[in-house]
Amino acid sequence: MKTIAVLTSGGDAPGMNAAVRAVVRTACENGIRVLGVIRGYHGLINGDFVEMDLRSVSDIIHRGGTKLYSARSTEFATEEGMQKAIRTCKEHGIEGVVVIGGDGSFRGARDLSERGIPCVGIPGTIDNDIACCDYTIGYDTCLNTIMECVDRVRDTTESHDRCTVVEVMGRRAGYLALNAGIAVGATAILIPEIEFDIQKDVIERMKRTQLANKKHFLIVVAEGVGVDVTELSKQIEAATGVETRACILGHIQRGGTPTVQDRVMATRMGHYAVKELLMKNIGNRVVATQKGEIVDFDIFEALNMKKSIDKDLYQIAMEVSI
Ligand code: F6P
Repeated sequence: MKTIAVLTSGGDAPGMNAAVRAVVRTACENGIRVLGVIRGYHGLINGDFVEMDLRSVSDIIHRGGTKLYSARSTEFATEEGMQKAIRTCKEHGIEGVVVIGGDGSFRGARDLSERGIPCVGIPGTIDNDIACCDYTIGYDTCLNTIMECVDRVRDTTESHDRCTVVEVMGRRAGYLALNAGIAVGATAILIPEIEFDIQKDVIERMKRTQLANKKHFLIVVAEGVGVDVTELSKQIEAATGVETRACILGHIQRGGTPTVQDRVMATRMGHYAVKELLMKNIGNRVVATQKGEIVDFDIFEALNMKKSIDKDLYQIAMEVSI
C-alpha cells in the first residue's frame, strides 16, 4: 500500500492520540503516505484530510481527546454517504483505512471493507465493550479517573455520614462500573449484565452493613442500567434514613492524560495495524488484545462475537464490600 488514511470516530477515548501517532510513525518509517481524516467518517465523506508526517504527531502521546477530532456521522450510515466516502478514498488514492473507535465505528469499517476499501479497526472506547477484545484503549485511564473522582466524593460522604449514588458511563456495559466499584469499595454495584433488585441488592445490603456499624456508603451505578440516580437516592434515603446524594460523573470520565497502559497498548495496536496488517495487504480486520497479546480478527466475525462480564468478579465485590 502506498497511501493509507487514519481516523478516530465515535466517543473519544484517552490514548487515541497515541494510537494515531503509532499508525503515522510506523507508516512513515516504512515509506507509506498517511492522510489524517478530520472528524471521522464525516471527514472521509468530505475529503477533509491532513497530510501526516513524522513530526505531525509530535507531543500528542500524553494528550487525551483526539487530535483528529471525532464525530458520529449519520450521513455515513446511508448508502449514499458511504458511496461518497468510497469516491473520496479513490480520488485520494487511499488504499487502506485505520479506524480507531468503538463497535459503531467498526460497523462503518465493516461496511467500507465490504465495498472494497480495506479497513483495520483499532478498539478505542472507554466502555471496554468490544467483544473480541479483553481491553480497549481509554478504559484504563477512565477507570483511574472514576476512582480518583469517587475517592474525592468519598471524603465528603464520610464526613457527613451520607450515602452517595455515583453514576458512571457505560452505555450498554458494566465493565467500568464493576471494576471502579471494586476499586472504591462500593457497597452495591448495579450493571446491565446482572439482574438486580433495588430492595434486596441495595437497601438490604446497606441495612446489613449499618448493623455492623457502617455509616457512609457508596453505590456505583452503570449508566446502561437506565436507573435514575436522583430517584434512587430519594428511595434509599426514605428506606434507610441515610441522607443520600446523587452524583453523575458524566463526560469528565472521557478526558484526561492517558495512563501508561493506554499509551503502551495504543502504541502496540497502532504499530500492529500497519506493520502486521496493512503493509501485508491484509484488510478487513480488527486489532485486539487477548490476555495481553496483540491479535487480530476478521471484522465480520468480530462484530458478531459476544462478550460476557466476569460474574465471579462481581461475586467477589459483593462478598468483600460488606
Ligand atoms: O461510548 C462511550 C460513551 O462514553 C458511553 O459510555 C456514553 O454512553 C456515550 O459514549 C456518551 O456519548 P456522547 O458523546 O454522545 O455523549
